[in-house]
Amino acid sequence: MALAVGAMGLEAVFGSNLHEAAVREVWIPAVAASGDFPEKHRRLVQFALLAANGHNTQPWFFEVSQNTIFIRPDLSRRTPVVDPDDHHLYASLGCATENLRLAAESSGFAVEIKPHETGVLVHLEPATARLSPLFQAISHRQCVRADYDGTQASNEVLEALQQAGQSDGVQMRLFTDKRELNALKELVIAGNSAQMGDPAFVKELKHWIRFNGAQADRSRDGLYAGSTGNPSVPTWIGSRLFDFAFRKASENTKYVGHVDSSAGMAVIIAERDDPIGWIEAGRACQRFGLEATLQGLKYAFLNQPIEVLSVRQEFQKFLGSDKRPNLLMRFGNGPSVPRSLRRRLDDVMRVV
Ligand SMILES: Cc1cc2nc3c(=O)[nH]c(=O)nc-3n(C[C@H](O)[C@H](O)[C@H](O)COP(=O)(O)O)c2cc1C
Repeated sequence: MALAVGAMGLEAVFGSNLHEAAVREVWIPAVAASGDFPEKHRRLVQFALLAANGHNTQPWFFEVSQNTIFIRPDLSRRTPVVDPDDHHLYASLGCATENLRLAAESSGFAVEIKPHETGVLVHLEPATARLSPLFQAISHRQCVRADYDGTQASNEVLEALQQAGQSDGVQMRLFTDKRELNALKELVIAGNSAQMGDPAFVKELKHWIRFNGAQADRSRDGLYAGSTGNPSVPTWIGSRLFDFAFRKASENTKYVGHVDSSAGMAVIIAERDDPIGWIEAGRACQRFGLEATLQGLKYAFLNQPIEVLSVRQEFQKFLGSDKRPNLLMRFGNGPSVPRSLRRRLDDVMRVV
């Protein structure tokens, strides 16, 4: 407690007002984009940036013309330890694609999406605007890595989540049964234990942590401590605290609480196991997150059983599936947390 109070004081010194201003600049209200090219298209890209993405590396670059937006992978933002084959990187492009589609359709475009090995080509044709509720959820969605309140979700809500997270070529499986959730929890703990015992994983994760608002504002990427439920402290203290306090036992205890307090968990499984399938999995997971938001729920990822190869095999046995599971998430009633940032539009797009 003393640490948290002290940290809040320090946050004032380390620029919390500036951080709040940056948050407001990034998380614009979900209002249909208007105007002409390229201003209208810039707005669409801003909505795409608000998508979920692994470690908040924002591994994308947008090439924008009047009728197309090409979303390219930014391979300088890979996370080779946790994501050696770039699965999460392409899934993150899929998340951005889905936000872009929803924003474009709500802003008067018919959209055609062509995922490639080299990125995602999004075609835009003027059409009647179709304002969608999922679009309106874009500015409210966030990953909440906190305990939820343990309440269950109604069948109607579960049905809506199911519909949102599946599509041609992508299967969504929801789990709410206690025994199944316990089995998933064991897999999360096994995966987390393996990752915590891997110095390369811990080093890569630490590289993407932003220990205070000022540090987050400088890079505008990475995992802001406030968003992940940790106190905001000066970087040098955060770095030492991380080395001292980031331990397998306490992390596992945290994840037990996270699963036990959730209403359920969701797994996304794409038919194809290649960048095109991973992009489709990302699109489905973004729709799932937006639908959860629309239903007043919070969600967060628990991908450890997918990221650790030996545990992934156990996970596939649990699922009775010969397909690679792509993403594992939990959902439930939970608090809001401070927002993560995004890089500036001019750093991630160019008009061609
Ligand atoms: C492909 C993918 C994998 C992710 N894996 C994890 C994960 O294993 N654990 C986690 O806490 N968050 C995970 N996330 C969530 C991101 O860290 C989060 O989206 C990012 O920090 C931005 O925060 P926001 O979604 O609240 O805007 C993942 C997101 C994506 C798209």
